[in-house]
Amino acid sequence: MIVAANFKTNMTRQSTREYLDTLDDFLATRHHDDDTIMVFPPATALDACHCAVKIGAQNAYATRNGAYTGEIGLEQLDEFDIRTILIGHSERRHILGESQEEIVHKFNFFKEQGFSIIYCIGEPLEIRESGSHALMEYLEAQLEDIDLGYANLMIAYEPVWAIGTGMTPSTDDILLIHNALKKLVQRPLLYGGSVKPENAREIMALANVDGVLVGGASLHIEDFKLIIQATN
Ligand code: PGA
Repeated sequence: MIVAANFKTNMTRQSTREYLDTLDDFLATRHHDDDTIMVFPPATALDACHCAVKIGAQNAYATRNGAYTGEIGLEQLDEFDIRTILIGHSERRHILGESQEEIVHKFNFFKEQGFSIIYCIGEPLEIRESGSHALMEYLEAQLEDIDLGYANLMIAYEPVWAIGTGMTPSTDDILLIHNALKKLVQRPLLYGGSVKPENAREIMALANVDGVLVGGASLHIEDFKLIIQATN
């Protein structure tokens, strides 16, 4: 299983370091070598972590370096050996206004660099309410021009209306959508959107769920530990 924590604009360099120390101690007591644990801290905390956790960037600009005020590029990620990135998160699509075209460009850039990419897709509520045909059409459009055969690709299915809301699709719906997505992409497929200790086990037990991407609940180390334990 893949269990990934997305801190978003939360935590500091200091609190991330303490979190990772605790997490690393916890992981040292487990014997699940086939689980991959990832943390996506804010850019200010993207320090190298000499630990069992894989550290990734929540975002970066598709450039080595240059005149892109406020952005970080490959050179800044390289300094800390960051080789993993989230691309296409719904907050970047809907709040920061990244277009599908920009997202594809970013994907191609980091793919060429050999990055592990968690590529996020997910539908807003009005699409979900238009039925399963509209839903799949929407998700397929988000996969357009993305190299689905890329060896370091992981997909995160995150319904927009489930992110940070405490609402989740039924397990039947997650199962249906993951089954349909798995026909399109034979890569690890994570579910994201209000994953918490109370629902992590049943979600990860579903066929074609290869892990979870956790926002809010990952901020509390004890909750994140419980979610990791739910892979057992
Ligand atoms: P959430 O966020 O767990 O707070 O719903 C998930 C995400 O945005 O990746």
